[in-house]
Amino acid sequence: MPEVLWLRVNGIRHEPPLSAATPLLPYLRNDLRLNGPKYGCGLGSCGACTVLVDDVAARACVLTLADVAGRSVVTLEGLGDIEAPDPVQAAFIAASGGQCGYCLSGMVMTVKALLLQNPSPSDDDVREALRYNLCRCGAHLEILAAARLAAG
Ligand code: FES
Repeated sequence: MPEVLWLRVNGIRHEPPLSAATPLLPYLRNDLRLNGPKYGCGLGSCGACTVLVDDVAARACVLTLADVAGRSVVTLEGLGDIEAPDPVQAAFIAASGGQCGYCLSGMVMTVKALLLQNPSPSDDDVREALRYNLCRCGAHLEILAAARLAAG
């Protein structure tokens, strides 16, 4: 009997009735209707699809369900919402850290992962963490300000 493939998403255990080779991003967006993580490049290069996997920033477009079997995945929706935002989400709102918003979820998740590992990052630490999260609008200064605010 095959082992059941399961994962936890935003605290809820799921057993996807799908091939273990299914990419994580469409599973999150299409099956679970979690549209925080965005499809940008599909190649692991832009950061729009960033989620937390066991509290580490990871690119959902290049992971399969097999890669996250038995692990905890957190999407933007798992952090908080407009009524009760996570401190990182609140900082991005306060600092206007988004323009079109397409990269925003990935930026927030990457900053969240950074702060989980390093609660007091330097500006260089923030820049390094966000180095591969692309923003086409040019909201980088506001994004850095949001990350500084979130770090306190
Ligand atoms: Fe995953 Fe660009 S869509 S890194």
